[in-house]
Amino acid sequence: MVFKIEGKVALITGGASGLGLSHARELLRNGLKGVTLADIDVKNGEQAQKEISAEFGNNKVIFVETDVSHKDQFEDAFEKTVEYFGNLDILINNAGIFNDSIWEREVSINLNGTIHGTFLGMEKYLKNYKQGEEAVIVNTSSIAGLRGNNAFPVYAGTKFAIMGTTSSWGNSYHYERTRVRVVSICPGVTATSILETRNCAYSKDYVGAWTYSIDDAIEDKNLCQTAEVVSKELVRILKYAKNGTVWVLEQSKPAYEFKMPLKESFLGNVLEDTD
Ligand SMILES: NC(=O)c1ccc[n+]([C@@H]2O[C@H](COP(=O)([O-])OP(=O)(O)OC[C@H]3O[C@@H](n4cnc5c(N)ncnc54)[C@H](O)[C@@H]3O)[C@@H](O)[C@H]2O)c1
Repeated sequence: MVFKIEGKVALITGGASGLGLSHARELLRNGLKGVTLADIDVKNGEQAQKEISAEFGNNKVIFVETDVSHKDQFEDAFEKTVEYFGNLDILINNAGIFNDSIWEREVSINLNGTIHGTFLGMEKYLKNYKQGEEAVIVNTSSIAGLRGNNAFPVYAGTKFAIMGTTSSWGNSYHYERTRVRVVSICPGVTATSILETRNCAYSKDYVGAWTYSIDDAIEDKNLCQTAEVVSKELVRILKYAKNGTVWVLEQSKPAYEFKMPLKESFLGNVLEDTD
């Protein structure tokens, strides 16, 4: 049965700007009952709440100041959501930063934040407060998570780990217990403020590994897509994507599925003794 967006409630982390805010708007256009924007940025969060209320009507949105790297703050956003809207059906773990110069913080937000959200959603709030037969978690990876990246290894590592945890949670064992589907998206270069992050390499030595500057990427219209295009595909993923699947969303193309090869396919790749 197809998952319906109409009448459902969503919690979106990093919902004050960029992809998160765009997802909120697109879901509301598709009949969402209400959305919580959980973000560390109070100024943008309050502004986003005002804009969404003006566009979609009152009682459709709440903003909760949240640092996803702190489990208690994240849980507070879940609590406020079910208090205000009565239910919770969709969690989009979207909050993230792109900055290997503060890599411990990057890991806390991108990876630990996504893990906090998935545990809280799967084991408690989505499991217990969903309205229909199932709830959905979308974890935000990146095309940077599909292979290593010399210039920003930690960012790429957090995104690779998000795919790994998503695939591990997204199986029939956990689904039968919780009725929560877990999928991951890997956006390509998308015009949001994250691309304005400067001095984001671990050190000057890592800057030399850039093969393409971010400014060139933003200017390249074939490469850089809008957040709105990604959000439209996100709606299709929420409706149709199978549990545990990973979806690439790049260059304004329709989402396509990324599959890890089976390790057995590499059995012939043995070391040759060359001495
Ligand atoms: N824009 C791209 O090119 C691109 C590509 C691939 C993946 N992504 C991923 O998409 C997600 C959204 O990023 P975006 O492009 O919309 O950038 P963005 O900077 O516009 O949005 C990120 C949001 O996360 C919030 N945030 C940061 N730290 C937080 C914390 N500790 N707790 C709660 N909220 C926090 C920010 O305040 C901001 O509103 C990120 O996970 C990013 O890694 C973006």
